[in-house]
Amino acid sequence: MQGSANLNLMIKAARKAGRSLVKDFREVENLQVSMKGAGDFVSRADIAAEAIIREELMGARPNYGWAAEESDAEEGKDPTRRWIVDPLDGTTNFLHGLPHWAVSIGLEFKGEVVAGVVFDAAKDEMFVAEKGAGAWMNETRLRVSNRSRMIESIFATGLPFGGSANLPASLRDLGRLLPVCAGVRRWGAAALDMAYVAAGRLDGFWERGLHSWDVAAGVVIVREAGGLIEPLTPGGDLLEDGALICGNERIFDQFAGVIRSDR
Ligand code: IPD
Repeated sequence: MQGSANLNLMIKAARKAGRSLVKDFREVENLQVSMKGAGDFVSRADIAAEAIIREELMGARPNYGWAAEESDAEEGKDPTRRWIVDPLDGTTNFLHGLPHWAVSIGLEFKGEVVAGVVFDAAKDEMFVAEKGAGAWMNETRLRVSNRSRMIESIFATGLPFGGSANLPASLRDLGRLLPVCAGVRRWGAAALDMAYVAAGRLDGFWERGLHSWDVAAGVVIVREAGGLIEPLTPGGDLLEDGALICGNERIFDQFAGVIRSDR
């Protein structure tokens, strides 16, 4: 794919942060037997990855705004553009030595995400998309799945933990969805769930309680692969509501119908 200068910058930043995280991940794998200190080690890895991304992106585009998981948001001199960054999506997987986590970088222009990069550094899978230019994984063009029957479709979600207020609604979702589909996965990295919908590996994804940095890059990747993505509550704000639903265009209405029928 021939990306814009901004997309190439995002890819470069994601690769650099990904390299640093892979190095730290090997260390975390060794720390599994003595859990002491693994949590602090991982938050240092996360913060270091964000610093790498920030230096690359803000160094090249100092006027853009900044929103990221590990630091305070900043309004840019250019109020129309903003980087939205999760340096390590899937932190819990990373902490447990599970190789399923990613760097996620979105670029917003006038309230719309126009470019996105989700880099699964452990598997060397670079998912990228730019508005109007399609979605890609490494050299392969992405297209959402073609499934139209719920009973043949698999979906992913994130299940709340640690006493989240969203737990009852998420459990009710599963109660309605599981009997009518081919399965539900809980992988633990929302950015990758969305990239997998774009790649046709999953037929749909929904989650409550997300942050803008978890989903920004995924939004444009899903759309550019031909998928549909909406706030869980129709008419809401896709990035700020924290609850969204996406899927291939043939399954979307049936899937959204099941998820939105919660009372
Ligand atoms: C988390 C992951 C997880 C999702 C959580 C997110 P983080 O992001 O995306 O899959 O279920 O809601 O917070 O904290 O690892 O960046």
